[in-house]
Amino acid sequence: MPSSAKQVRIAVTRPVSPALLRCELTHLARAPIDIDRAREQHATYEQALLRVGCRLERLPEAPLLADSVFVEDTAIVLDEIAVVTRPGAPSRRAETDSVAKVLGRYRRIAGIAAPATLDGGDVLRVNRTLYVGLSGRSSRSGLEQLAEHVAPFGYRVEAVPVHGCLHLKSAVTRVGPETLLLNPQYVATEPFRGLEWIEVDSAEPLGANALLLDSEVIYPASKPRTAERLRRGGVAVSVIDVSELEKAEGAVTCCSLVFVDDDRREP
Ligand code: GLY
Repeated sequence: MPSSAKQVRIAVTRPVSPALLRCELTHLARAPIDIDRAREQHATYEQALLRVGCRLERLPEAPLLADSVFVEDTAIVLDEIAVVTRPGAPSRRAETDSVAKVLGRYRRIAGIAAPATLDGGDVLRVNRTLYVGLSGRSSRSGLEQLAEHVAPFGYRVEAVPVHGCLHLKSAVTRVGPETLLLNPQYVATEPFRGLEWIEVDSAEPLGANALLLDSEVIYPASKPRTAERLRRGGVAVSVIDVSELEKAEGAVTCCSLVFVDDDRREP
């Protein structure tokens, strides 16, 4: 990408499906979801993306795909390439074609071949390292295929076992250039040596998911104690209510794919 080109931050999102009521769940008990409220919360989330300067690229609604609002799981978008995943939950595999179509306008596309699986929620980028969660959704062969795709661009892939939660990014996310927010119950800290981290409040085990955009993080209102820890650690926190999406085992990183691209508007 030429350095003189004006750049824009793109956020790919997808509306909440009415089928969200039948979403996949791994470590949460099913609770009734108010779809209208989920849609309002998703709209607030999109407003937060707009406020920090993102341009929204909204995918078409997928009424039959229960978890399709959680677009993060369908791709890993780097500056040089987008790797479209093969989600670990079979019900989610039909989400990827429409994502590949949109991302193909911005990046060269690579894929993950069966039987390997990979969810984007299991991939955490810090500089040129991709930490990949070995969770119930992402397999070692998925990690290996990702590593082959990204090695030519200088990325290193590091496996991180995940226990007790859905994805790696349920356990650890970035809240600063080299600062993490993590729950040591779900993930060992050893793979993150050399980085700093803030631990979630122990009363908020699912509080490790924050969406870092520029110099602030979008963070769920349901985790006030951890939000306060972040503020005390010097992190600018913008709180939004995503309680209905959380019932579907979703969180703030899950609902977008954010990347930087040249500012080229649609013809
Ligand atoms: N409900 C989110 C997921 O299981 O992928």
